[in-house]
Amino acid sequence: MVPTEKRPKVKIAKPFNDEAIEKSVISILRSGMLVQGEFVKQFESRLSEYIGCRHVVAVNSGTAALQVGLQAATVPKKSGGGEVITSPLSFAATANAAIANGLTPVFADVDPETFNIDPSEIEEKISSKTVALEPVDVYGLPADLQKIKELASKNKLPVIEDAAEAIGARSQGKRIGNISDVSCFSTYATKNLHTGEGGFITTNSDSIAEKIRMVRNQGQASRYNQKTMGYNFRMLEICAAIGLEQLDQLDELNQKRREHAKALTEGLGDLESLGFQRVDDPSSHAWYMFSLILDEKQAGISRDKLVQKLKDEGVEADVSWPTPIHLQPFYRETFDYKEGDFPVAEKISQMIFQLPIQPFLSDEEVQRVIATVKSILSSS
Ligand SMILES: Cc1ncc(COP(=O)(O)O)c(C=O)c1O
Repeated sequence: MVPTEKRPKVKIAKPFNDEAIEKSVISILRSGMLVQGEFVKQFESRLSEYIGCRHVVAVNSGTAALQVGLQAATVPKKSGGGEVITSPLSFAATANAAIANGLTPVFADVDPETFNIDPSEIEEKISSKTVALEPVDVYGLPADLQKIKELASKNKLPVIEDAAEAIGARSQGKRIGNISDVSCFSTYATKNLHTGEGGFITTNSDSIAEKIRMVRNQGQASRYNQKTMGYNFRMLEICAAIGLEQLDQLDELNQKRREHAKALTEGLGDLESLGFQRVDDPSSHAWYMFSLILDEKQAGISRDKLVQKLKDEGVEADVSWPTPIHLQPFYRETFDYKEGDFPVAEKISQMIFQLPIQPFLSDEEVQRVIATVKSILSSS
């Protein structure tokens, strides 16, 4: 047996790379055509085939995707601004994108079992100031999009979905990216499909897609012909080439994640101090992250200590997210949020942690994760 300190780490993320990618990147560098050219076009068209949607627009981050998506699909109130209803249990980018558009993020608490935004909480927050609903597919599990869509239609609101973590996930028999008015994906290095940094937006609306394309490129309808407010959110050719190479393998890679998640659920299912994200249909989940909650009292160890001990043993556990967005210093100061405002999201943030399920883990490594968790919890 290899001593613990000599064994390689069980990594929580391993960005895809292969010889074909390396070749493409070198050929792009030598070509001199570095930004938003043929590779980006091909990446967009292959993604739209994969997802089954009319339009895909590539940008240079998931944050940019959300910012552009919100700008293109919302109509601000005549008095200026408006409110976007979203989840407090997400990455700050979700809410920051609303603020970047002069809109106010309004949070609705999450479901304690799925960790996704609770439609009944959304309903309570809808008012004459609301301009959009922005659900998040947390850790790759689609939000309750059917109910959210119904609420949106009833109130004539667009749904701008934060699908940053959900490429390859499904809902209502369709792929994520083909359901909401606009869906925004991240292709950051750790994501199921990555481009280093990057992201893309999907929509079936021709007019929204046209606006998105303009906003991505300084608001220009054509060269030096600016029709709306815009930015430089263009994607690099090398990023598109990295992403393109992964598309054929994405379903297979996601299937590996699913198998690892199944093994972890079965292997750890008998530990009473652990709880799992409720997933009614495992094949609908993109399994970006495998999330658990720890009952610290029952376990006799704090969540943070457990995560540290796992890391010490070479198992890269993580906490995503230790603080809900409304309790980030900026949000507390700007919007007067305080503890107790969204109790379910706050409780989950205190209990949640993640274990590695990335597709390049071997079965032995997955078993090592299970054995290490069990050994730490049994000695606590
Ligand atoms: C839920 C969520 N929203 C938005 C983003 C922002 O994406 P990016 O980091 O590509 O800007 C992320 C990425 O980490 C995310 O996980």
